[in-house]
Amino acid sequence: MKFVLASHNKKKLKELADILNKFGVEIEALPENAPEPEENGKTFAENAKIKAVSAMEFTGLPAIADDSGLCVEALGGAPSIYSARYCEGTDADRNALLLKNMQGKENRKCYFACAICCAFPNGTFIESFGKCEGEVLQSEQGTGGFGYDPIFYVPEYKCTFGELSPQIKNEISHRAVALREFTKKLNNYLQE
Ligand code: IMP
Repeated sequence: MKFVLASHNKKKLKELADILNKFGVEIEALPENAPEPEENGKTFAENAKIKAVSAMEFTGLPAIADDSGLCVEALGGAPSIYSARYCEGTDADRNALLLKNMQGKENRKCYFACAICCAFPNGTFIESFGKCEGEVLQSEQGTGGFGYDPIFYVPEYKCTFGELSPQIKNEISHRAVALREFTKKLNNYLQE
């Protein structure tokens, strides 16, 4: 069975293709001329569904999409679904704004969340969700990864996502958790 990934991100395509190939599933990139739907959902799951449906309708193929972000307890869950748009500029600018908004806050608890949705042309949806808990550090540490990784401290490993090896991050991350649940559900569905 052929799937399309509702993203132009080549890294995501490779990560998903490596995993899904094991199920005899072929995954291809979204055509360049596919429309970019407005992500106006209120949750990660709603936004993943919006992207999956848009790609499925454009290509006629089952389409897989994900949506992810960082949720900080002391900030009422922000930046959440607005993580990529927390402020204009670079990842470093967004990290700096988050650290500024966290000044003086004792509760540093936060988690990364990831929702995955696959929309099939027959109206079926397969959805999954993953979380990875951590703490917002006082300053950036580590240069690996992307986004909020340098300020996301993982107590179990006593370092940030920016310092963890990609192998370990890919084992414990929100995306890994969501993908494991997703592949289980997809496997069950394909065997029905
Ligand atoms: P998207 O789901 O790829 O659109 O990601 C949304 C935003 O959430 C990213 O731009 C990052 O700011 C943040 N984010 C999601 N996953 C991660 C991660 O694994 N590390 C750091 N930041 C992340």
